[in-house]
Amino acid sequence: MSAGLGQRLVDGLARRPGGVLGRLAYRNGPKAHEPSFKAIRDALGPLEDERVLEIGCGPGVLLERVLDGGATSAAGLDHSPDMLALCMARNREAIAEERLQLKLGDTATIPWPTESFTAAISANMFFFIYDPAAVLAELHRVLAPGGRLVIATISGPLPRASLRNWWLYPPMGPSLNVHTDEEMHALLTDARFTGVDVTSDGGALALQLAHATKTATARRSG
Ligand SMILES: C[S@@+](CC[C@H](N)C(=O)[O-])C[C@H]1O[C@@H](n2cnc3c(N)ncnc32)[C@H](O)[C@@H]1O
Repeated sequence: MSAGLGQRLVDGLARRPGGVLGRLAYRNGPKAHEPSFKAIRDALGPLEDERVLEIGCGPGVLLERVLDGGATSAAGLDHSPDMLALCMARNREAIAEERLQLKLGDTATIPWPTESFTAAISANMFFFIYDPAAVLAELHRVLAPGGRLVIATISGPLPRASLRNWWLYPPMGPSLNVHTDEEMHALLTDARFTGVDVTSDGGALALQLAHATKTATARRSG
């Protein structure tokens, strides 16, 4: 397979899914994403009074669960028009009720005002972020003081490819930007997050879960 064709496949099926194949692959949310969804939901805990942003929301399966879980509101950002269309169809009611806002755009500039959210999440997409420091700075900006960040991604170095993780074979595997737990910890700390915790399950899916908090700055009295 030529490098160009390989990159087009990675783009169309994962980095910016679109077209007939991309829509088919994501219509119901890939089964392989379930462990990340569960890990993020468990890490978030109760969602009452939460305003949640998901970057790279894809077809919006996790957003739907966050809203069903009682979040006050949610927002989704994705750079694929086809994924946003799927997300819109899946979450039509929440959009009509103005509980969900979706925007087409890139994580390099998150198009919401400073301190808009109490939680930010990222599932199965952080490995496509090639300037993680810049994106983490944006996530820190849009979180309110005390806001939480939860990222479920693939840990580095990549595990051995097997039938359970076919996407780690070329062309996909080599194009993923993965970090060891220590590297991820340092990225989050450098971005001024506190209470950083990063763990990997060491399994075939190489699930890495990172959570961190934006420190609530003490207000001066008088
Ligand atoms: C593998 S899919 C995961 C979708 C969803 N989060 C899930 O777990 O099912 C990656 C998603 O991230 C989006 N994405 C990747 N890089 C992005 C970027 N720089 N800005 C915005 N969206 C991005 C893609 O368009 C795609 O919808």
